[in-house]
Amino acid sequence: GIDSGGFNNSTQGSAGRVLESEVPLPEAFRSRLPIPPVLEPVHRDGTTDYFEVTQKVGQAAILEGLKTEVWGYNGILPGPTIVSRSGRRTVVTHRNELPVPVSVHLHGGKTAPEHDGYPTDLILSASGAGGHSGHGGTGVVGSKEYVYEMDQPAATLWYHDHRMDFTGPQVYRGLAGFHLIHDDTEDSLSLPSGERDIPLMILDRAFAADGSFLYPSVDPTLTSTPGVTDGYMSGVLGDCILVNGAAWPVLEVSDAKYRLRILNASNARRYRLRLDGGPRFVQIGSDQGLLSAPVEHDAIDIAQAERFDVIVDFSGHDVGDQITMVNENGSGGTAQVMRFVVARREADTSVVPDRLADLENLSEDDVSVEREFVFARGGAQAHGTTLWTVNGQPFSPDTIVAHPELGATEKWTIRAQNVEHPFHIHLAPFQVIGRDGNDDPGRYNQGWKDTVNLDTGGRAELLIRFDGYRGRYVFHCHNLEHEDMMMMANFEVV
Ligand code: C2O
Ligand code: CU
Repeated sequence: GIDSGGFNNSTQGSAGRVLESEVPLPEAFRSRLPIPPVLEPVHRDGTTDYFEVTQKVGQAAILEGLKTEVWGYNGILPGPTIVSRSGRRTVVTHRNELPVPVSVHLHGGKTAPEHDGYPTDLILSASGAGGHSGHGGTGVVGSKEYVYEMDQPAATLWYHDHRMDFTGPQVYRGLAGFHLIHDDTEDSLSLPSGERDIPLMILDRAFAADGSFLYPSVDPTLTSTPGVTDGYMSGVLGDCILVNGAAWPVLEVSDAKYRLRILNASNARRYRLRLDGGPRFVQIGSDQGLLSAPVEHDAIDIAQAERFDVIVDFSGHDVGDQITMVNENGSGGTAQVMRFVVARREADTSVVPDRLADLENLSEDDVSVEREFVFARGGAQAHGTTLWTVNGQPFSPDTIVAHPELGATEKWTIRAQNVEHPFHIHLAPFQVIGRDGNDDPGRYNQGWKDTVNLDTGGRAELLIRFDGYRGRYVFHCHNLEHEDMMMMANFEVV
């Protein structure tokens, strides 16, 4: 069937075809919501927390009677949650025991360029399998230490694979996890915490007859061609919704406030989330951390890679009530996400304060340079198909399209053509000041962002702060199939 995967009803059908699973899918609302394990540091010293992650093949029990092979951080999907403290350095040593090269990107991290997971900055397989790095990439063999200074506020970040040409298939096979940062401001707010602070990684998958994740691609270990056939070039959509790795799971809650850190980790699917018969979402945070004040939503439009940090208050409900999180963009199975069941009463002392964090508001007066980038299909051909490009240029590690100065604030206008494109930039957080001809960011783009959704024909004006490091970084479309089909470009902070 055709699924819009889009927010704007006038763009029905513009995302890819929905893959149909070759096995019966699990019944909805039968399995419990898994909570990804929090990774313990292997060592701490006065300034730094040290972690170790092994990327390896694992087996997940998602389907009845069949195992699903996962390429995961520590062999699991989601990977373990890494927790950092703002201002304390975090070092993560990644060992690659997968049969392919990998590159790890901390999405939303203010990271030095050599630790940012540049698409050709690879960790080659420890086993030597699938060893070619391709595209003149450089690689260390076996393992790499990624150093994160964590000079940034409390936020819900995530880490995922970023290998050039293969980010789509490698994330699809499981390479994604949460990385949370806490700070004193957040601690002072009495927000719901502990068991009532829950990360939700939402993604869609389809399954092959043997239970593995079905991706319409040739074996990436055997060729440098991504091989995404034309029908899926607009993005790979699955027919099964997973939350924290389980199909349409259930979470038992008390009649209290919960903090949900919602991440859309899907390759190409966008969601419009609503709590059917339940409370509204009170948004307290965006991609890059807390908002200045809460924003209430009946529904949330969430594009790939975006995060919505929300409070939901179940206190108006009785024990036994069921509240389903639905996806108003979906149909059939993809119209449902997960369910909350109110299972007990609980005294709740958490609050949602009227003021959250003090945010600096960037202003057009600070802008030194203006640039415009058009995200569209066209301008280049490869493998017998027309590529996705930025200003008509396909990604090349050697071409740098912008040289912002360290400390500068620039105004970038981003336009999306042909279909929707979620724009994401590494290193440099931004504020949305205009969208689709309006001089405001819109309901869903408050605070500091690192990803912004653009509808077909859409346009966004961003004020971007280039801070922290000099060096070469990428910006790209976070539809991972578009990214793999070259919709990416370099900037270099000078
Ligand atoms: Cu979430 Cu360049 O990526
Ligand atoms: Cu795109």
